Amino acid sequence: MTSPTAQRLPVEDVVAEAHRAGVPVLVDAAHAPGMLPVDLAATAADFWVGNLHKWACAPAGTAALFVARPEHQPVATPIVSWGEHDGFPGAFDQRGTDDLTPWLAAPVALALLSGLGWTRLRRHNAALVAEAQQVVAAAIGVPGRRLWHSPGVSMAVVPLPPGVATDPAGAGALQAALSDRLGIEAAVSAWNGRGLLRLSAQVYNAPADYERLAAGLPGLTGRWPRSRPPRRSEGALRGGSPVSRCSRPSPPPPETHPAGGSPPSDQTGDR
Ligand SMILES: Cc1ncc(COP(=O)(O)O)c(C=O)c1O
Repeated sequence: MTSPTAQRLPVEDVVAEAHRAGVPVLVDAAHAPGMLPVDLAATAADFWVGNLHKWACAPAGTAALFVARPEHQPVATPIVSWGEHDGFPGAFDQRGTDDLTPWLAAPVALALLSGLGWTRLRRHNAALVAEAQQVVAAAIGVPGRRLWHSPGVSMAVVPLPPGVATDPAGAGALQAALSDRLGIEAAVSAWNGRGLLRLSAQVYNAPADYERLAAGLPGLTGRWPRSRPPRRSEGALRGGSPVSRCSRPSPPPPETHPAGGSPPSDQTGDR
């Protein structure tokens, strides 16, 4: 998953191509655990790293590292401590006196999400963010044809109007304003001279969160022509009750719509 543009890359194809050229591959799958199905065998990467503190909801500082053939590929941690002589994976487990609490809590987080049903959870999140994208885009006059959404992904980007958040300072200022003035956490990036607002949807989010963003965003970044908001039947956010972002997740509704869409040709990749 790319971070600023929220796109799912064809990892299997990239790995296969690199292997044809004799190049080993490390996959940075920071967003994958909890959001996407992970099949390490199918990915066929030499190394794979995925964070558990993003979409798997584990405490900060938890990640999984997979090494396909540790006996053939030397793997060393940059932190040298008393586990050093154990090699892989022992050296990674004993890098001095770590606080193991987040690691011990990670299985609980996974069990909670698993109890909701991975497929159901993923469908819910992808559908919620797809609809949120429509609602927020409409509020700032971004036409639907400019929107893209990688299928099955729980994040989606709304390109901001020209002149808004076009450099890192502007993007940082808008992200801070969203947090300080609206109480909303969303990533804003400057990407190829264009501001991108990245929306995320997890099971604890509800349509009301994005409606609040849509209502407050124009006031933070200027007044733009408002395109007609989608009617409920054509993409407005459905149902759901307001939730606190800290509340215990409620199960996603069983009825969800698959998310779809692909980026316009000029917006297909991260660099
Ligand atoms: C693609 C990608 N890799 C790595 C990271 C680093 O994650 P962290 O600093 O939480 O380990 C991020 C963070 O968002 C990311 O999006």
